[in-house]
Amino acid sequence: MHSPDEHHNGASFERPSPEPSAPLHGAHAGPEEIAAALAYLERGLLVAFPTETVYGLGASAFNASAVARVFEAKGRPAHNPLIVHVSSEEMARTVASQWPRDASLLARAFWPGPLSIVVAKSQSLPPIVTAGGTTVALRCPSHPITLALIDAFGEPLVGPSANLSGGVSPTSAEHVRGVFDPRFVYVLDGGPSLCGIESTVIDLSGKEPVILRPGMITQDQIARVLMRDVHLQSPATDAPASAEPLRSPGLLDRHYAPRTPTFLVTPDSLPAARDSAPGAVVVIGVDGLVPGELTLPADARGYAAGLYAALRSADASSAARILIVVPPMTGPDLGLWDAIMDRLRRASAPLP
Ligand code: TXA
Ligand code: MG
Repeated sequence: MHSPDEHHNGASFERPSPEPSAPLHGAHAGPEEIAAALAYLERGLLVAFPTETVYGLGASAFNASAVARVFEAKGRPAHNPLIVHVSSEEMARTVASQWPRDASLLARAFWPGPLSIVVAKSQSLPPIVTAGGTTVALRCPSHPITLALIDAFGEPLVGPSANLSGGVSPTSAEHVRGVFDPRFVYVLDGGPSLCGIESTVIDLSGKEPVILRPGMITQDQIARVLMRDVHLQSPATDAPASAEPLRSPGLLDRHYAPRTPTFLVTPDSLPAARDSAPGAVVVIGVDGLVPGELTLPADARGYAAGLYAALRSADASSAARILIVVPPMTGPDLGLWDAIMDRLRRASAPLP
């Protein structure tokens, strides 16, 4: 077997020290803020917490009325289940009714890290968490502040991305502040999210493992750990043609989208797209390759890390349209480009 670290996608997602006061990730929150966050959770209120992917909107997973507040605050449809965040594999097993060997293999290879594992849920978890479904998505995030928070709370936290339903996920505390009523939501600042796009979601509740949402942990990395092929079901790419029913209801919804009409264009079609309609345009280009009012790095990791902040800046401008130039999709992280393209397709209208 490989050592777990070999399966990580390069960035180091190390188990943090138990000292939340250590200035990791350039974080701002310390023991006092964590204590304040705990007080919110204990009263059934919400805490926006940092993770390596995006910020989550947390509540006690065992408190059904707190979980209901999460749905309400986000305007999230009740049919869309929440991810449950844990601080260890051991804690994950307390909310799963089955923990298959594949789950152990993946948890040991990639946790803490950007992988959510769907398994059969235990009775102890209120039905609202999983939208009435029999499975639960479990994730152990790699962020010292949030791991310290979950450890101190001693129980798992639900945590959808801390944005209004359908909008762009937040990758900094700034993105979360001002969105939710501070009387009900405490924001823990852990600095910018290092990965920048949501976790890979893999379903292990059926006969074969299926990736429901591509992310930082790639199909190849998972296949290597499970030592077999793993199918990727991405509604953004193959749902209409697929005969199989979708296993993840939430993934059908329009997602990750700015309010401004957004289009995905090739570098060649950019000039025509600029002129195709009146009104100001914001182009999200690629550093050194395609100029734009905003640009993102040409490497997959840098692109992913900056994507949501760029979408937010573009949305905040007074432009009538956002044009995203398709990135080059080269370099060592080919699998990560699949995840990035999935988000770009969801954020935009199709290529012309
Ligand atoms: O990176 C992440 O996963 C972030 C951070 C905060 O951890 N969370 C996140 O949560 O992206 P959310 O709720 O925005 O997206 C979770 C996705 C949804 O599309 C949901 O439908 C799917 O995971 N999901 C949750 N539970 C599921 C289940 N039991 N079966 C299938 N899909 C599930
Ligand atoms: Mg979300």
